[in-house]
Amino acid sequence: DKMFTYKGTVLTLAKSRDLTPEYIDSLADFETKDDDVFVVTFPKSGTVWTHRIMTLIYAEDFPDKANQPIHEQIPWLEYRAKEKNYNTRPSPRLFCSHLLQPLMPKMLQRKGKVIYVMRNPKDVMVSYVHFSNNMKNLISSESFSEILEKFFTGLMLGGCWFDHVKGWITNKDKYNILILTYEEMIKDLRSVVVKICEFVGKNLSDAAIDKVVETATFKHMKKDPLANYESPSLTDTDCPKGPFLRKGTVGDWKNSLTVAQSECFDRVYQERMKDVPLNMVWDI
Ligand code: PPS
Repeated sequence: DKMFTYKGTVLTLAKSRDLTPEYIDSLADFETKDDDVFVVTFPKSGTVWTHRIMTLIYAEDFPDKANQPIHEQIPWLEYRAKEKNYNTRPSPRLFCSHLLQPLMPKMLQRKGKVIYVMRNPKDVMVSYVHFSNNMKNLISSESFSEILEKFFTGLMLGGCWFDHVKGWITNKDKYNILILTYEEMIKDLRSVVVKICEFVGKNLSDAAIDKVVETATFKHMKKDPLANYESPSLTDTDCPKGPFLRKGTVGDWKNSLTVAQSECFDRVYQERMKDVPLNMVWDI
């Protein structure tokens, strides 16, 4: 009763979130505009990080929203259906989503942009274990062997990582899309912020870019109430039990997965991703 599975995607089912199959289906026909931007990720891949960066890059467009939590500034496409009429939202419209590629708005004539962020799936799994134990509205994953099973079957928030990444990578030519990785954000955040600005057509001064980078560092964001789901507008079930931002590093899986679990993952990964034209930027 905590989660909702539909056409391969898995969403949380908090009472505040009026989710129905009809609503999810209706999103495919959502009419996009050229300056719409959708940040799309599989959960635990750098969503909140990119989300925060976007609120900072677009700060001048929405000065009255600067003190609102990031999920109020940039809404989830698939959640809170009744509360938001996205068609009347002023442009530029920014959204965030965990949806699989076939469920997203069609973006006909390539109207609208997608920023797709990926992360080493082993770090995604480890981050998910901590996250699911921290969120009241999710089914916990107490052990790492349990998360391997969830990851392979796709019975976790977001659905199946393999389908998610495959769907977006193999269909990328249909979209106006910028593909980023969590790892490159860790390596050189400034270059990524510049890349995003160029992609969305935002001309920020060097000083403004420095400010975005400084505010989006892990150290700063960990203390940022706007980025930690601490909003009084959230219902109790939507709030985390502890801080939302956890460790923010690359390769934390090495501290959690056994050699056997890691090797098992590698075998499944090689098999399920063999047809995907993806240069592995992470060292799995
Ligand atoms: S969610 O629940 O899908 O929205 O989670 P998501 O935001 O995609 O992923 C959470 C992980 O991202 C880390 N994070 C960051 N890392 C580095 N720098 C910054 N600024 C940052 N912000 C969030 C967060 O700590 C989670 O990773 P783990 O490995 O669990 O720490």
